[in-house]
Amino acid sequence: PPGQRYEAETAPAVCQGTIDANWAGFSGSGFCNGTNAAGAYAQFTVNPSAAGTASLGIRYANGAGSARAANLIVNGSAVATVSFEPTGAWTTWATKTMTVPLTTGGNTIRVDPTTTAGLPNIDHLDL
Ligand code: GCU
Repeated sequence: PPGQRYEAETAPAVCQGTIDANWAGFSGSGFCNGTNAAGAYAQFTVNPSAAGTASLGIRYANGAGSARAANLIVNGSAVATVSFEPTGAWTTWATKTMTVPLTTGGNTIRVDPTTTAGLPNIDHLDL
């Protein structure tokens, strides 16, 4: 079945930072520019059609010189760590893919940065 896209700028998504649109290439109307601080997260609420493991893609841009690390927190539990490697420019977007356990109904998926650099810019999540 076709996947579902969840934009970082669209409620009920939460962006601890600002919704910006100054770097081209994003989908929807903008992206989440998280505050450059540990714990300044982006959160999505997804509604899968079935419980179980699902493949998740997080689209991001990291124009900084080094990778940005985050915990992936699903329904309150850390399930993976993610390293958002540099993409070369803030206008160059890449997708990080991982597998996560989901239940039926609303699931929160939080990308929670672990260093003072905070998150890369986050565009959307594809389920
Ligand atoms: C720059 C860039 C932002 C980005 C930020 C960062 O300020 O313009 O879009 O979020 O760097 O380092 O996170």
